[in-house]
Amino acid sequence: MVESVPHGGKLINRIELDKPIDFSNHFVELDNRALSDLELIANGAYSPLEGFMVKADYDTVVQNMRLANGLPWSLPITLAIDRYKAMELDIGETINLIHHSTIFGVMEIKEIYFPDKRVEAEKVYRTTENVHPGVKKLLERPEVYIGGPIKLTKRPKNIQFENFYLDPIQTRQMFQELGWKTVVGFQTRNPVHRAHEYIQKSALEIVDGLFLNPLVGETKSDDILGEIRMKSYQVLLENYYPKERVFLSVFPAAMRYAGPREAIFHAIVRKNFGCTHFIVGRDHAGVGNYYGTYDSQKIFSHFSTEELGIKPLFFEHSFYCKKCENMASEKTCPHDREHHVILSGTKVRGMLKNGEQPPKEFSRPEVVHILIQGMKEVFTEK
Ligand code: ADX
Repeated sequence: MVESVPHGGKLINRIELDKPIDFSNHFVELDNRALSDLELIANGAYSPLEGFMVKADYDTVVQNMRLANGLPWSLPITLAIDRYKAMELDIGETINLIHHSTIFGVMEIKEIYFPDKRVEAEKVYRTTENVHPGVKKLLERPEVYIGGPIKLTKRPKNIQFENFYLDPIQTRQMFQELGWKTVVGFQTRNPVHRAHEYIQKSALEIVDGLFLNPLVGETKSDDILGEIRMKSYQVLLENYYPKERVFLSVFPAAMRYAGPREAIFHAIVRKNFGCTHFIVGRDHAGVGNYYGTYDSQKIFSHFSTEELGIKPLFFEHSFYCKKCENMASEKTCPHDREHHVILSGTKVRGMLKNGEQPPKEFSRPEVVHILIQGMKEVFTEK
C-alpha cells in the first residue's frame, strides 16, 4: 500500500462531466494556463484547492507560502480577468469558463479583487524584471482576479499524450497495483540527459518506484516541445530502465519558472499523484541566473517533512567525469572541472537545432537521435 496521503487529507474531485451545465449568460475566457489549472484543480492534482484562490488564500500564499488555513502552498493559483469583464460580474453568481468558444467548466464567484502584482512578482519570483518569463506572464495577464470553487464539465483534449494522461486517482491506483510502497516523483521540462538519469537511478536505489512525470503544459518558446520529449523518454525507458520500477505519465501544468517556490509546489502536487519522495536537483524550475544553484533545496527548510507530507531528495549538480569514467558530483568526485562534461541547456538546444550530437557522456545517443529528428520536423513544418 502506498504510504502517501493527499495534501489536506483527501483527494479533491470536482469533475462533473455528465451533469447539465448551469447555462449562465456570463462567461470568462481562460488562457492556456488557466485551462490547465482548472483541470488540475478538478482532478485533485492541486488538492486541497477546490477553485481559483480567493483573496485570503492568495495573500497568505504570496506572503507566507501557506493557505489561509495554514497548510503549505507556495504558488498563487488565480484566474485573471480585465476590469470591464469584472464590472459585468456579481459575487455569488455561477459563470461559465470557456476556452476558444467551448465551455470547460463553471465557477461560483466568491470574490473579485485587485492583486498587487509587484508584490506577487517580488515574493513569488524574487524579481520584478519583465524578462523573467514567469513575471512577464504575470504582468501580461489582466489586472483583476476572481476566486471561488469550480467544476470541470468537459475535459480538454490531449490527443498527443492520450496514453500517458492520468489523474491522481489513477496514478495512485497504478502504484498500488505495482506494489510500490515508496515512490519518487521526478519533475522535468527537458529531455532526460545522463545527469537526470543518474539522480533518478540513485533515488531508485532507496525507493520502490520512479514516477517520471514530465511537465507538458505551457513552457517558454525555446524549451523542447512536450511531444518530442515524450518520444525521447519512451526510448530511454525502453532501453535503460527496469520496466517494473518506472511509471511515465504527463503533468499538464504550465511552467512558472518560479525556481524555489515552484519546487515546493511541484513536490506537493506529486504527493497528490501518490509519491512519497520527490527529487530536487540543481536549480530546480529555475531560469537564467535568477536563483542560486541550491535555492530550490534550501526553501524546503521552511517546512517540516510532516506538514509537507513528501520527502524531498536533494542532489548536487551531477556530471560525467572523464577521470572517474562515471557520473559524479562535487560530493563524489575529486577531479578538476576540466575533466567534467557540463553543457548548458541553451548550448544543447543550439546543438540539437543544428543537427549536432551532444557527447554520449552528456546524453544517450538514442535520445539525441529522437531530439534531432523531432526538431528537424518542427522546423520544416514552420
Ligand atoms: S525543471 O525546470 O523541470 O526543474 P529540468 O527538467 O532540467 O528542469 O530538471 C529536472 C530535475 O533535475 C530538477 O530537479 C533539477 O534540479 C534536476 N537536474 C537537472 N540537471 C541536473 C544536474 N546536472 N545535476 C543535478 N540535478 C539536475
